[in-house]
Amino acid sequence: MKIVVIQGPNLNMLGTREQHIYGPMKLEQIHAQMKDVATQNGLEIEFFQSNLEGELVDKIQECYGEAHGIIINAAAYTHTSIAIRDAIAAVNIPTIEVHISNIHRREDFRQKNMIAPVCASSIVGFGPFGYHLAMMGMIQIMNEIAAAQEAQKKAQ
Ligand code: DQA
Repeated sequence: MKIVVIQGPNLNMLGTREQHIYGPMKLEQIHAQMKDVATQNGLEIEFFQSNLEGELVDKIQECYGEAHGIIINAAAYTHTSIAIRDAIAAVNIPTIEVHISNIHRREDFRQKNMIAPVCASSIVGFGPFGYHLAMMGMIQIMNEIAAAQEAQKKAQ
C-alpha cells in the first residue's frame, strides 16, 4: 500500500522559519523518520512539497488510483483553499491532516479550516511528532481496509 505525504507552502523552510512556533527540525528530517516507519511497516511512501496551490491540487488528483492514503499539511492554504478541499473530496482517499502548531490557539484567521471536514482526522499541536502520529493513524486505517477486504473475499 502507498501513502503520499503532501506539504504546503513555507514548510520547505522548517528548521529556519519561526523556530519558536515550528521548532528546529527540517522537513528532510521529518520525512526521513516517516520513511523509516513506512519501511518497517511494509508501506510505500512518497513525499511532495509545493508553495503553489495548483501544484498541490494536481498532486492530490495524481493520488487517485495510485495512493491508498494521504497525509497533508496544507499550511496556510488550510485556511483559504476550497480547491484543495474539493480535490481531497474528489479523490476520496483516506486523508489525515497535520499541523505542527496548535492552530486553535493561534490567530483568528487560522480558526477557519477548509480541509478538516473532508479529512479522516486532524492532528494539531504536537510539533513534528504529529507526522509520526499521522503515520500511526494511517497504518491503523490501512490495516482496517486490508481486514475489510479480506473479510469480503472470504464472504464471496
Ligand atoms: C501550519 C499552520 C498554518 O496556519 C500555517 O500557515 C503554516 C503551518 C502548521 O503546521 O502548524 O504554514 O500548517
